[in-house]
Amino acid sequence: MVIDLRSDTVTKPTEKMRKASYEAELGDDVYGEDPTINKLEEKAAEVLGKEAALFVTSGTQGNQIAVLTHCQPGNEIILEEESHLFYYEAAAISAFAGVQPRTIKGNRGAMNPAHVEAAIRGEDIHVPETSLICLENTHNRAGGAIVPLDNMKAIYEISTRYKIPVHLDGARLFNAAVALNQPVSEFTKYTTTVQICLSKGLGSPVGSILAGDKDFIRRARKWRKRLGGGLRQAGVIAAPGYIALTEMVDRLSEDHANAKRLEEGISNISALTVVNHVDTNIVLVDIQKLNIPATEFLEKLKGEGILAVAFGPSMIRFTTHYDVTTEQIDQVISKMSKLFSVYA
Ligand SMILES: Cc1ncc(COP(=O)(O)O)c(C=O)c1O
Repeated sequence: MVIDLRSDTVTKPTEKMRKASYEAELGDDVYGEDPTINKLEEKAAEVLGKEAALFVTSGTQGNQIAVLTHCQPGNEIILEEESHLFYYEAAAISAFAGVQPRTIKGNRGAMNPAHVEAAIRGEDIHVPETSLICLENTHNRAGGAIVPLDNMKAIYEISTRYKIPVHLDGARLFNAAVALNQPVSEFTKYTTTVQICLSKGLGSPVGSILAGDKDFIRRARKWRKRLGGGLRQAGVIAAPGYIALTEMVDRLSEDHANAKRLEEGISNISALTVVNHVDTNIVLVDIQKLNIPATEFLEKLKGEGILAVAFGPSMIRFTTHYDVTTEQIDQVISKMSKLFSVYA
């Protein structure tokens, strides 16, 4: 059996989720008549501490609708240099919203508030208006790093002073919340809007939530329709999402424990170096000492039934999730020790 550590997006819906899809009460969501969608959106708004929420097809769609709703073409938005919104969304912020990115290098995903303030544009005919600040928590390319609450607070205070909204890409916000033993609303209180993924660690097959105040969500709903995201009897995919949100959060600590276990195991293989502080469910491994490219490393792993992804020419990302057990993590460690200790 393949041990798939490529991403927490690979999880399959649980029995209970599949049954909930089958039994879901349905209606036309474009008319606001799908009870299952409405129940999920109400619950999500409550959990996220916002007035309203919108079910969207993916994390990318949620982030893009946020940018489209907050900004006008010709605006500038501030984001972290390796944030998903900048790095992995195929330049959608420029292609769709027509905004210019202003990137800031973070420390473990956290932008220095002083750098954020310095990047905010003033009144000058030559410069664009800063219309949005984007945060990401946990930060994917920083190895699932938790952006500290006091960092979010400091940036939110600045944004409030300059009357600039803050959008949080919280694709893995629940991982941060569980790791710090805090409700997610402790994080979202420092944001104007937030996107969370139901389909990553929480195990739902499809979907994300965008949340904010009622007026923002009314306008976001229109953007979703423009983008072709009005989904009719969408309760079939919202039903698993409700279970994800209400029953799958606390168990994320198991994924975090498995990631720690993997980190410890890998630290005993001298040719491999774990480069991130493992806060949540992601382990980043530098393979430079092996003197082989990431592609070859991944092929060798695949030969042993283990999947991971390249995060650079000599960097590999391993992500733990619901469909990977502690026993499988132990198998990964022992197979990697056999494969790569010869290089030491
Ligand atoms: C931090 C972050 N934001 C957004 C996304 C996009 O989510 P989706 O794949 O549902 O579009 C991802 C997906 O990996 C992510 O890691």
